[in-house]
Amino acid sequence: MVNTTVSVGEDLFVIAIDGPAGAGKSTVARALADRLGLEYLDTGAMYRAITFAALAKDVSVYDVDAVAALSPHVEMTVEPGSVTVDGVDATAAIRGRDVTERVSAVAANSAVRADLVARQRQWGVERGGGVIEGRDIGTVVFPDARLKIYVTATPRVRAERRVGEIGGDVDDVESAIVERDRLDSTRSDSPLREADGSHTIDTSGRAVADIVEQIMEMLR
Ligand code: DC
Repeated sequence: MVNTTVSVGEDLFVIAIDGPAGAGKSTVARALADRLGLEYLDTGAMYRAITFAALAKDVSVYDVDAVAALSPHVEMTVEPGSVTVDGVDATAAIRGRDVTERVSAVAANSAVRADLVARQRQWGVERGGGVIEGRDIGTVVFPDARLKIYVTATPRVRAERRVGEIGGDVDDVESAIVERDRLDSTRSDSPLREADGSHTIDTSGRAVADIVEQIMEMLR
């Protein structure tokens, strides 16, 4: 009999870190990966990489079919502190305004999601697991992850952190964050939500080391 059940990650040591923009996912995920000696994957950078490639090729991110056709041909390397797209260093550009303003449209494209989810699973399988950060890691990519964490913080705290990193007006950044949350959690394909069995951690006003310790305790 053919087994048609899709089971990804049951025998992998995947730690899924999901949550909204600016909640502190990257900081927590990197510190945790260091602590555990595991590799870390930032899947948001992959959606940004496709957005960067579309911009570079003059493809409108709102042209669903064109972006779907482009996605599988985009070569990317996503490593902590370095992202290349089709051989070009895109580390800074993927965090810039042009990409940030358009990435939600790319993340809502089902063909792009299918492409990137497959690449993310492959990344995990090749390494036997890792710390993987995104929006749908515990819900879609690795529903059998060893541990699922949903990281959150108040919109104000998230805006203050972003302003600390890249500057800007805190009220403007806060409304942009609220809008991106709305887009990410109301899209029809893989909306942002807490996975079944996930542990929610509010990082507002908390030290990274303390949060990592809390997660280590969950693993014990
Ligand atoms: O985490 P980030 O801000 O770099 O994510 C960029 C965009 O990609 C954001 O709109 C959410 C989306 N995203 C997603 O839909 N699924 C993921 N696994 C990661 C990010």
